[in-house]
Amino acid sequence: MEQLLKNFFLFMAKNKFFNRMAKKYGLRFGAGRFVAGETLEAALRSIKELNAEGMLVTVDHLGEFVYNEEEANHMAQHCVDALEAMDREKVNSNLSLKMTSMGLDISRELCLTNMRRILETAKKYNNFVRIDMEDYAHIEQTFDIYNELRKDYDNVGLVIQAYLYRSEEDIDRLAEMNTNLRLVKGAYRESPKVAFPEKKDVDENYKKNIEQQLKHGHYAGIATHDEFIIEHVKEFVKREQIALDQFEFQMLYGIRTDLQKKLVEEGYRMRIYVPYGNDWYGYFMRRLAERPANVGFVIKGIFKG
Ligand code: FDA
Repeated sequence: MEQLLKNFFLFMAKNKFFNRMAKKYGLRFGAGRFVAGETLEAALRSIKELNAEGMLVTVDHLGEFVYNEEEANHMAQHCVDALEAMDREKVNSNLSLKMTSMGLDISRELCLTNMRRILETAKKYNNFVRIDMEDYAHIEQTFDIYNELRKDYDNVGLVIQAYLYRSEEDIDRLAEMNTNLRLVKGAYRESPKVAFPEKKDVDENYKKNIEQQLKHGHYAGIATHDEFIIEHVKEFVKREQIALDQFEFQMLYGIRTDLQKKLVEEGYRMRIYVPYGNDWYGYFMRRLAERPANVGFVIKGIFKG
């Protein structure tokens, strides 16, 4: 049943009609638990609150299904505005973004131009930009654009998904470029031709990927809410004498806030992924897919109106 619901929500995440409706009618159905708000001002308020609790942030202006140039440029402008506002307000946050919202599905040149604009702004403010990893269909293009950008910028990093069979090879290759990686289990619906179908295999590969990146001596953002993995990492870094400033834990806004606080108290770097904007639908569906029990929030949200 759980698997069926997972597949259902991942399928729904790609529904363009509901995506359009969601943009039109605003944050609903309990999505506010996972999304900081629809505006940059709302995101800044959340960043400040999290910073005050000793947490770092990465902010993401939500956006999917961007198929025209004007919209892609508009999305890039949002990123530039966010970087400027974060500097002005002196908050401790970097930026995460999706290449498809920068025009990846339109043209390589457009995506590169938008990325360069954002990375120049980030460089000016001594800030960092993380490229989220999307579905498998975009992986080669994402690596290609990253390789190109990395020639000119060192303030950019990528994400590796442990559910993919290829992740180990990708980590080794990216290590040659001293890549700052966020390591995740993976959030999309992928074919067993490219991804482990069983969760236990994903978890095992995830541990391997984390150890691999840390052993390479490069920075790791360990993005998970899985307590077993987190305990495993704590033991591993202690045993291997890996410095606490070579990695950070990362979690999503609104998920396992108890664990987020505990890790800060224990002296670990903790970064929270804060999404904002009106294009919240796909993001929300993926959070429901990860934990179908979250549907409870949807039901409460419906009755709240
Ligand atoms: P797992 O799914 O095994 O969950 C472990 C425990 O965490 C659960 O038992 C539950 O307690 C809690 N939990 C997990 N998800 C929850 C939810 N939605 N609601 C409530 N509780 C939940 N993916 C991707 O493909 N590309 C990307 O760029 C990113 N970026 C990213 C950034 C950050 C900061 C995080 C934390 C995650 C991502 N992800 C991602 C998503 C990632 O791939 C994965 O889908 C989720 O993190 C869920 O997997 P866990 O590692 O938390 O473990």
